[in-house]
Amino acid sequence: MSATAGKNKRLKVLIRRSAIEKRVRQVAQAITKDFQGERVHLIGVLKGACIFLSDLVREISLETSIDFIAVSSYGKGKESSGQVRVLKDLDSSIEGLNVILVEDILDTGLTLSYLLRVLQQRKPKILRVAALLDKPSRRLKPVEGNYVGFTIPNEFVVGYGLDFGERYRNLKDVCILNPPVTP
Ligand code: IMP
Repeated sequence: MSATAGKNKRLKVLIRRSAIEKRVRQVAQAITKDFQGERVHLIGVLKGACIFLSDLVREISLETSIDFIAVSSYGKGKESSGQVRVLKDLDSSIEGLNVILVEDILDTGLTLSYLLRVLQQRKPKILRVAALLDKPSRRLKPVEGNYVGFTIPNEFVVGYGLDFGERYRNLKDVCILNPPVTP
């Protein structure tokens, strides 16, 4: 499959790659400004955030380090099971670090509220959240991102790291996937 929505009728472009590129640069600038003279430690939530993190970290003009955590909350479908499990933990301690948790999308907030609780126990100096996308209308837990790329309507989206049954992560644009299909 090509990395564009192309002629796939199930995909409708919601956010073009050029807009993503511009916004990621702005988010990185905001982080650079907020942490002037300090080091930031980015934690990407696998797998969805890997592409956002890769682009974001290269636009941050600070000393940075990265780590990844993998959680599962969705199984193979489009609805949250409400259960969060750590599949891969961090490689190193975050005690005393300026941590930015990097998420692909904030949806119900179940994943984020769980992760914030787990990470806070490990005593970071600061714990913030950067999310490429935010679907506030779906929120079940009162959590917010400190750095949000785009607020989007209640649609299921794929591309730029986001998947449906492991497909579509390589799309360069963020696209709405319709109608619902079994992966
Ligand atoms: P939450 O726990 O409901 O906030 O969901 C967080 C995770 O669900 C995200 O990190 C995504 O992996 C996945 N997710 C939520 N909405 C979407 C979507 O529209 N497309 C693809 N994945 C989604």
